[in-house]
Amino acid sequence: MKQRQLSLITSPNWQDYELLDSGNLRKFERFGQHRFIRPEPQAMWQPRLGEDDWVADGVFVPGKNEQDDGEGGGWQLSRGLPPSWQLGYQSLRFLARPTPFRHLGFFPEQAAHWDWCAAAIKAFIQTHKRPPRILNLFAYSGLASLHAAAAGAEVTHLDASKKAVAQAFENRDLCGMQSSPIRFITDDATGFVDRELRRQKSYDGIILDPPKYGRGPKGEFWRIEDDLTPLLQKCRQLLSEEALFMVLTIYAIRASSLAAHYALADLFDNQGGCLESGELAIQEAPLKSGKTDLSRYVAQANFARWCSDIAA
Ligand SMILES: C[S@@+](CC[C@H](N)C(=O)[O-])C[C@H]1O[C@@H](n2cnc3c(N)ncnc32)[C@H](O)[C@@H]1O
Repeated sequence: MKQRQLSLITSPNWQDYELLDSGNLRKFERFGQHRFIRPEPQAMWQPRLGEDDWVADGVFVPGKNEQDDGEGGGWQLSRGLPPSWQLGYQSLRFLARPTPFRHLGFFPEQAAHWDWCAAAIKAFIQTHKRPPRILNLFAYSGLASLHAAAAGAEVTHLDASKKAVAQAFENRDLCGMQSSPIRFITDDATGFVDRELRRQKSYDGIILDPPKYGRGPKGEFWRIEDDLTPLLQKCRQLLSEEALFMVLTIYAIRASSLAAHYALADLFDNQGGCLESGELAIQEAPLKSGKTDLSRYVAQANFARWCSDIAA
């Protein structure tokens, strides 16, 4: 197996999203026509733009004593801001909306994975003359599922939260993909994987972006430190003989991306293909002023992803 470590991956194909500036522990971003300021504990540097340029439709104000990573705090939104609005990426449409968790209903840095998975899915279809079966665990508002389906995959989209699955439905409908082969399931990730193994089901690709803590629909407790390694091993067993990829993203723990790398290296030891790991980052947009430009990278998550030789 080829291995690449410490890659810094960005998503340069956005039209509807931009990191306009960052600094002073905050980031200034554009989502379509609307601009937002959010806490960014990693931005330990000076903004490039002046304070007067940081004019936003929404500012997320962190709660006390939790500038770094905590929960709490809330949005201060301008009156004219609609509760949600449409954005696009590649051929797909979806909704952006400020959530209590500081994000806007999707994670722009993940576009790098959507494009990578789409290319692998197309390579799979060319080689095997059938659509790959992709399982998206912790799938939230569904953008990875929709991009995989748009590339030609049969997708199983799973999340424990009914609300998250409802958001994924909304996005599917906005894309006009009601008849695409996407199965939406509200379930606990580990419980579902266990049942699929008992039913001797298999998938050609698995995408997973587990949170730090979570609850399944019946209160099943998820804690990344305890539950990720067993789940990864089960996911490995669930991969078909024609396994195409596994994509792991981790926002939830402060660790080097090498942790995710070696977790997948264990699983695909004798498998060939290529394993890559590193950080998903957003990059500041070029300055319009013509000033000497330093477009800095702001890392958002660790990732590791393996793909078979047909997509490597
Ligand atoms: C960080 S979000 C995933 C983001 C998503 N991959 C994306 O890019 O849009 C984590 C998701 O995990 C779900 N979740 C939490 N605990 C779960 C569990 N035990 N089983 C399945 N999903 C769970 C949450 O409802 C939430 O939607």
